[in-house]
Amino acid sequence: MLPVIVENVPLAPLTTLGLGGTARFFADIADAAEVAPALAWARDMNRPVFILGGGSNLVVADEGFAGLVLRMRTRGRRWSEDGAETRVQVEAGEAWDDVVAEAVARNAAGIECLSGIPGGAGAAPVQNIGAYGQEIASVLRRVRVLERESLEARDIEAGACGFGYRDSLCKREPDRFVVLSVTLGLAKNGPPSVRYLELASVLAAQARPSLADVREAVLALRRKKSMVLDEADPNRRSAGSFFTNPVVTAAAADDIATRAGGEIPRFPLPDGRVKLAAGWLIEHAGLAKGFRLGPVGISSRHALALVHHGGGTTKDLLRLALHVRTSVFERFGISLVPEPVFLGLTWPV
Ligand code: EPU
Repeated sequence: MLPVIVENVPLAPLTTLGLGGTARFFADIADAAEVAPALAWARDMNRPVFILGGGSNLVVADEGFAGLVLRMRTRGRRWSEDGAETRVQVEAGEAWDDVVAEAVARNAAGIECLSGIPGGAGAAPVQNIGAYGQEIASVLRRVRVLERESLEARDIEAGACGFGYRDSLCKREPDRFVVLSVTLGLAKNGPPSVRYLELASVLAAQARPSLADVREAVLALRRKKSMVLDEADPNRRSAGSFFTNPVVTAAAADDIATRAGGEIPRFPLPDGRVKLAAGWLIEHAGLAKGFRLGPVGISSRHALALVHHGGGTTKDLLRLALHVRTSVFERFGISLVPEPVFLGLTWPV
């Protein structure tokens, strides 16, 4: 059935940044069966379609979007047991953190470090959410999608999802699929993952932390960095990390260390390359936490988050983002790549 389609809906309140213009057409999707008719409607109207989840990783143009925005509101978490695995099929509109909370309560391991990440479950595999040593890619079994071209639903098995660091097939080809649900395979009564150094150090006093202990520790760490949604936090209007951490060759990392005049934080990857800390590069390019450029600025808690302090525009945010990119490039020769999705605009290259 075709969902109710409304006109000229402000998108800023539907994003965590609180910026951007209106959607020419907009519909809430309460049932996955509404997606195909909505896509067909847009095709007849010759309008592009954008799928909105929690709006927590999204930058909307001030000019808005001339197409149809479909906000996924589908609900449902179906749990089952399969040998040593606890499986859950989650509808796209579920809040991701509700899934984590229930998994922890059921003593199912594999996503406890992904606690407190804002946004919807449908978006989670698109950008392959990751934090504190875990990525959704390692527990994702399949994604149910609607193919936009054929309007047919089908399953994409984990191996065909093309996962990379904050990357996937669905991210690379945003106009090809709509994610309807995701199926995760979690370790029944499995141990928590305590691999990330910062997490391990806050849990060091506990010999055998439970999944719930790890969830609490991750939430506390995220709160300290203003990375959980909290109405009272002055840094709350952000899209989380605004840039991805650059992955470079070991030689390039050495070169940057030389430029920095000392050691730099580096995280070696299995393929021999090195992941650098974009937050560190930003601070060492001379942009301190709390830096302001009019109504926007760098979070006072984490240099990788750009914050809207109110009364600003997306243009202001992009001006700041370009200033950050230029400063890091001039200091270290690295061109930072933004992490959020852009709607109605393209990142200037
Ligand atoms: N750092 C600084 N200054 C800062 C922040 C970080 O110098 O203001 C340096 C420090 O050396 C620190 C290192 O960067 O040790 C890593 O910082 P952090 O542990 O905060 O993680 P991150 O690399 O900045 C990534 C993810 C986050 C995720 C955390 C924790 C990306 C782009 N970001 O951030 O994910 O929560 O690790 O695992 O990979 C997101 O994607 O939106 C996000 C919040």
